[in-house]
This record gives sequence, C-alpha cells and structure tokens, in this order.
Amino acid sequence: MSFAPDRRMRIGALLSGGGSNLPPVFEAMKDPACPYEVVVCISNRPGALGLDRAKAAGIPTITIDHKEYERREAFEDVIQKTLEDHAVDLVITPGFMRILTNSFIAKWPERIINIHPTLLPSFPGLKPHQQAIEAGVKISGCTVHFAVPDVDAGPIIGQAAVPVHDDDIPETLAARVMQAELQLFPRCLQAVAEGRITIKNGRTLIDARPGEFEVFSPAL
Ligand code: GRF
Repeated sequence: MSFAPDRRMRIGALLSGGGSNLPPVFEAMKDPACPYEVVVCISNRPGALGLDRAKAAGIPTITIDHKEYERREAFEDVIQKTLEDHAVDLVITPGFMRILTNSFIAKWPERIINIHPTLLPSFPGLKPHQQAIEAGVKISGCTVHFAVPDVDAGPIIGQAAVPVHDDDIPETLAARVMQAELQLFPRCLQAVAEGRITIKNGRTLIDARPGEFEVFSPAL
C-alpha cells in the first residue's frame, strides 16, 4: 500500500469502550515527524471512556449509537458519512465491538486496521483470553491486521508474544497482553502510514526497520 508522503495519514478510530490502545497513538502524534494523526473518534456506546481519552487529547469525538438504528446498514451509513466528512484515509477499530458488514469493509480495502488480543488465527471473536486459557496454550499475544469480511481475520501486520501463566485468569492475561498491544499498535500504524507495507496473496510484505517489530513482554 502506498501513501502520500507529503502529509499525515488521517485516521478515524471506531471504539466501543475504553479505547485502551489509543494513548500511545496519541502520544506518538505529538511528534511532528509522526506520519499519522487521529482526526476523529467514533463510539457506538454513549459515554465510552475512550471518548474522554480522545477529548483530553484534543481529538473530535462523536457518538453514533447503534441502538438508534434498526438496520446495521443505516448505522454504518452514518459512520461512513462521518469518516468522509473528516477526510479519513484509514480506519482503526481498537475495541470496536460491532461486526462490520462486508459492504462497509469493501469501501475501505486495505484501509481498516484491527487489533485482537491473541495470536491470530487462534482464538478470534469474543472472550479471547478465556479461549486461550481454556485451550492451555503457554504463549498468547496480540495481532494487528487489516480487516477482511471474516471476523478477526485478514493480512497480519504485526504480532507480539506473551507468556500464559498457570494461575492466569482472563483479567491477568489481558493485562499482560495489553502491555504488548500498547507497544505494537503504534509501530504498525507507523509502517502503514509510511507506505512500507504491501499485501500479496493475503500476506503482508513489510519494509521493516531493524528491530521495529520486536516487542517483548516484561515477563518473557
Ligand atoms: C484490546 O485488548 C484490543 O485488542 C481489543 O479490545 C481491547 C481493548 O478494549 N480489540 P477497550 O478499548 O479497552 O474497551
């Protein structure tokens, strides 16, 4: 994927809750050399903590409550219009808990980036940490990927591994994985915004800098 090097990539964020992945993104944006900026945060849940985080960073926020729309398409039409009004180049969905329709995803080819807190393709969907613990894996982690019509699937941009401890419960594993997410997510956005990623046969080819994607959990 190539992107204009003469301006920052404009990002629209869709979220449903805490927006936990956003603080390091907002932090990175303070550097004038950062190749991207979040220009709007949209929540489908009124009062989401992620909106407060965005407001505190001076980013416009909008609530588009899915409950006010009978059809998913009508809800997505309003999201689409909002993204277009903000001249968004790239959509990110950190913690967005609504399934996007194929037709919405088709409007943003290679332009929607999701983060999921497991090593995909293992444990997509809901309760990912519980799935990982119940499966007995010793290593879990997180995945940043381009979105395609299947849930939690699509060309992988970056992954980071995190150990699973014998006494883990979903909350303790989630907290450990989050430490890796916070490192990985902005790095992936940077590589995308700098046009250093191409997709071939469902796989990404990344012109990575040495060590760029080496993310280590403190506990590894
Ligand atoms: C993160 O683990 C992310 O990978 C997943 O949702 C979690 C963040 O949720 N998609 P929230 O933004 O804190 O509600």
